[in-house]
Amino acid sequence: MKILVTGANGQLGSELRKQLDSEFPDSVIYTGSDILDLTDLKAVEAFVANNDITHVVNCAAYTAVDRAEEEKMQCAQVNIDAVKNIALAADAIGAKIIHISTDYVFDGTNHRPYKESDKVNPISQYGTTKRKGETALLALAPEAIIIRTSWLYSPYGNNFVKTMLRKAETQSEVRVVCDQIGTPTYTRDLAKAIVRILRSHQWVPGIYHFSDEGAASWYDFAQAIFRIARRDVKVTPISTEDYPTPATRPFYSLLDRSRIKATYGVEIPHWEEALTDCLREMGETE
Ligand SMILES: NC(=O)c1ccc[n+]([C@@H]2O[C@H](COP(=O)([O-])OP(=O)(O)OC[C@H]3O[C@@H](n4cnc5c(N)ncnc54)[C@H](OP(=O)(O)O)[C@@H]3O)[C@@H](O)[C@H]2O)c1
Repeated sequence: MKILVTGANGQLGSELRKQLDSEFPDSVIYTGSDILDLTDLKAVEAFVANNDITHVVNCAAYTAVDRAEEEKMQCAQVNIDAVKNIALAADAIGAKIIHISTDYVFDGTNHRPYKESDKVNPISQYGTTKRKGETALLALAPEAIIIRTSWLYSPYGNNFVKTMLRKAETQSEVRVVCDQIGTPTYTRDLAKAIVRILRSHQWVPGIYHFSDEGAASWYDFAQAIFRIARRDVKVTPISTEDYPTPATRPFYSLLDRSRIKATYGVEIPHWEEALTDCLREMGETE
């Protein structure tokens, strides 16, 4: 087994590095854009073939949801073209692919958690390009596994938890939207699910949904961060209307995790428990 983890400097990539090194010693290659630019087909083909890669875990993406509304081309290059390149390169040598996608492929009008079979209807550039990446991948590499996830955070990179902790240094009050509902997901838990798939003897292609358990608004999430990290910050709930952003986000994006649980037996903690673990890992709580 020879695993290539792309996007290895990002949130999920950094977490995977921690977990895979002990699970598959000397069998994993990690690349950031400095080592392998995924938008360069020739480079991707050569890298995958020369290193005898058997599995690609694609954690690379253009993830700046608001900036994507302006930088449409850059966003499409990473979220669509690079995914096609990986598919072509992997397919040429029979390597398997695990690709990560997003709850933002949905428009948020559901009233129950989204199943993999539910109709997609992205409402942002980011969501649109991620969906096009999914369809391109499935067309070129039908054996691929796609995992859609939501609201990722970790001790690494940029995320909501780190933004809130930074705000707590200078502000005694923050205003946070309370009408967008989803599930915060600790990258540790998604990485565990990926490791479980890689270790499993069965490869069941297609789309899977994965998030931590439970549901929250960004307001709930912010309150939990300050409570667990013991920061004295007042959180004032506001509506999306009061916090305009360049990208439109779904009001509701809970993911139904039944398929990944039934197929791979993954165990998933509640988001508040996972958040406590993450803040402990960051040295922000006992
Ligand atoms: N963050 C979220 O809340 C969230 C929610 C749902 C789904 N997801 C999905 O989950 C996955 C992981 O997200 P994340 O938060 O870990 O992302 P992230 O921290 O933004 O990391 C993405 C990585 O992609 C790499 N990358 C960008 N362009 C590249 C290129 N041309 N060639 C090679 N690498 C390139 C970057 O590498 P360098 O740093 O080396 O330039 C970056 O480290 C993504 O597919 C994302 O769409 C994320």
